[in-house]
Amino acid sequence: MLKDDIANILVDEQQILTRCREIARIIDENYQGKQPIMVALLKGSVVFLAELLKNIELAIEVDFLDVSSYEGTESTGEINIRKDLDRSIRNKEIIIVEDIVDTGRTLNAVKKYLYDKGAASVEVATLLDKKSRRVIEIEAEYVGFDIPDYFVVGFGLDFNQKYRNLPYIGVLKEELYK
Ligand code: IMP
Repeated sequence: MLKDDIANILVDEQQILTRCREIARIIDENYQGKQPIMVALLKGSVVFLAELLKNIELAIEVDFLDVSSYEGTESTGEINIRKDLDRSIRNKEIIIVEDIVDTGRTLNAVKKYLYDKGAASVEVATLLDKKSRRVIEIEAEYVGFDIPDYFVVGFGLDFNQKYRNLPYIGVLKEELYK
């Protein structure tokens, strides 16, 4: 069973659901009278996206972007687009939906990409934030949970494409990836 690979649960399902409702309420307030587009980064953010969507009352739109860092050494902050947005975002207000901000390189590059495409504004909602790992100074406007530097899985986050379907955020047993 997947759960046998988890050393401990860092954030349980109830905590996540409660926090998603809180973030949805704040987004509803901040974007009153507006129609932002939520741009979810595949694939890790989809469970978080779904939980936000269920709770947001605004007339929002959703689009998906799939990016990868350039292969080789640790990401340079340059990205390849594996799946681009379906529609123009010119003059639109964007909320990026991300699973976790680690070094900040992915987010920084994606933000730049969206502004280059003509976005009027770009904010970020992330389920998790590993602030201690930041290499690039970048902050998310909406953060589910600040977490220490553990490798975590579940609620959309994977290790080798597995564990995304765990309903909580768990720390993966070290022997599985070391
Ligand atoms: P950044 O560009 O270094 O901020 O990388 C962010 C990406 O790294 C996330 O979207 C995840 O795909 C991946 N990542 C970072 N830490 C973890 C983790 O603890 N578990 C699973 N994926 C992670």
